[in-house]
Amino acid sequence: MKKILIIGAVGQIGSELTLALRNIYGNENVIASTRKTPPSDKVRESGPFEFFDTTNKDDLLKVCKKYEIDAIVNMAAILSAVGEKYPMLAWDVNMNGLINVLEVAVELKMKQVLIPSSIAVFGPGTPLDCAPQETVLKPTTMYGVTKVAGELLCDYYVQRFGLDIRGLRYPGIISNETLPGGGTTDYAVAIYYDAVKYGKYTCFVKEDTKLPMMYMPDCLKGTIDLMQADFSKLKHHSDFNLGAMSFTVGEMADSIKKYIPDFEITYEPDFRQAIADSWPDAVDDSAAKEEWGWKPSYDLDTMTQDMLKVIGEKHKKGLI
Ligand code: SER
Repeated sequence: MKKILIIGAVGQIGSELTLALRNIYGNENVIASTRKTPPSDKVRESGPFEFFDTTNKDDLLKVCKKYEIDAIVNMAAILSAVGEKYPMLAWDVNMNGLINVLEVAVELKMKQVLIPSSIAVFGPGTPLDCAPQETVLKPTTMYGVTKVAGELLCDYYVQRFGLDIRGLRYPGIISNETLPGGGTTDYAVAIYYDAVKYGKYTCFVKEDTKLPMMYMPDCLKGTIDLMQADFSKLKHHSDFNLGAMSFTVGEMADSIKKYIPDFEITYEPDFRQAIADSWPDAVDDSAAKEEWGWKPSYDLDTMTQDMLKVIGEKHKKGLI
């Protein structure tokens, strides 16, 4: 790959992935883009940046031609909670944006496309204690519906057009650089910010809600490892389950209390509880381990320690 376009470069994963890929492939070779939100200083100052809307194929094509893009990472998506408020918007961004990326990739003979999927593909009928790689996919959210359809569409483009497409079913991603926007797993980030800022947090899902989660350094590592894997060795393409750790909100609170003993948590479940309840506690990621050597590093306590340290420093500097 010589020139990578990141779509959704101001989002939780996109903003950090842009910087990580610039470190590997060179600042000028990783073009960040988004629809309208201005990028962070770090993203803007370290390399090229473009504003455009992926649902407009001509604009996408223009940017790809301008920079001679040969790989696209499409991180733009409307997540589960916002998607339930605006289902048509979720369909438009997640599906029309995706098909434009795939069509442009075929037209310009791209070397690689990376399209993230999510634990939101699962739902009733999936074994919820540990979701297998191959299982029933009957999501109850528009976000999940677009992710299942997206996986199928990507696999179709692999076999029909020979495109090199890769994708991961991300669990909830926990990070301290860019806040997540509009997902059900957002509580797992907000809890750390509120613990540092206020010493307490009111959670929108119940204490015993358990979901698969991952710390950002592992998310970046998994994404880049899959991008660099030998395509000929992959049996799966767009739908790798990716696990790291699973815990309840109560267990997160206990982990935080080891470092902030007076931390208090209360629970006021809202509509996101039903979404969380439809997703599995954990996922079986043996295909990712076998096919491209996936191996996460962080567990709950090592992540908590790091999150509280980084967020604590930002708070002291008045940045949050
Ligand atoms: N983090 C996403 C959400 O909560 C799941 O992929 O919607």
